[in-house]
Amino acid sequence: MILEHIKEFSRHAHSYDSHTCVQKEVAKYLVSGVKSKPKSILDLGCGSGEVYKNIDWEIEHFVGVDSSQEMSDKHPTCKDIDIINEDFESSTLALKLQPSYDLLISSSALQWSHDIEKMIQFASFTCKEGAFAVFTDKTFETIYTLSGLEVFLPNAQALLKIFEKYFTCKSEIKTFKISFSDNLSAFRYIKQSGVSGGKKRLSVSQTKSLIQNYPLTYLEFEVLFIWGTPKTLEL
Ligand SMILES: C[S@@+](CC[C@H](N)C(=O)[O-])C[C@H]1O[C@@H](n2cnc3c(N)ncnc32)[C@H](O)[C@@H]1O
Repeated sequence: MILEHIKEFSRHAHSYDSHTCVQKEVAKYLVSGVKSKPKSILDLGCGSGEVYKNIDWEIEHFVGVDSSQEMSDKHPTCKDIDIINEDFESSTLALKLQPSYDLLISSSALQWSHDIEKMIQFASFTCKEGAFAVFTDKTFETIYTLSGLEVFLPNAQALLKIFEKYFTCKSEIKTFKISFSDNLSAFRYIKQSGVSGGKKRLSVSQTKSLIQNYPLTYLEFEVLFIWGTPKTLEL
């Protein structure tokens, strides 16, 4: 399933920037909650650089990890930035990283982990401070309810419990809405933003009927924000 997300991101990399106002807002808000001005930063699922673009303090080293070549090709480059084109769940990723970073951050990417708890645990061993924004199961809730599709996004409360196992953290659940003048534009946005699963699970006629019968004038998103320090550092 992850591979299909990657293909989806790669396919839409050219249009990603213009169809991602929610992810842009999310990255901006996530970075604004980081107050410590960390010097070394690891960004998991860095994409085209929304996290990096919002950093307004001086840093020494920024490492972005993304499995989509097309997305990471759009990331800003400079001598302080290293981009690793790899799956952040790969067991060999740690070999390419420093033992620890001042900040490990991930915006709009961890919801696709096969094993999100393993990723959160890995994060807690790899940073002095963590900042995470994860799309949750209230995202596109009306579409899931109408279509009967199985929700693949994590539940915010369940996810918060996992974060609290590994981090002493501050959390916030925020909802976002984007309005559209017609349903077709809304469904195009889903396709091009890469927030959907990227897996075609509805037939063409089911999709048509969903587009015709979608009752809202907006798309709904819910994001869990976490800022915290690893509990391992407290031992
Ligand atoms: C919605 S985009 C967010 C990009 C960026 N963080 C932002 O805020 O705009 C999610 C990114 O995560 C990447 N991604 C998803 N699953 C991944 C995985 N298992 N390993 C590495 N990158 C992954 C995708 O390629 C994509 O670039």
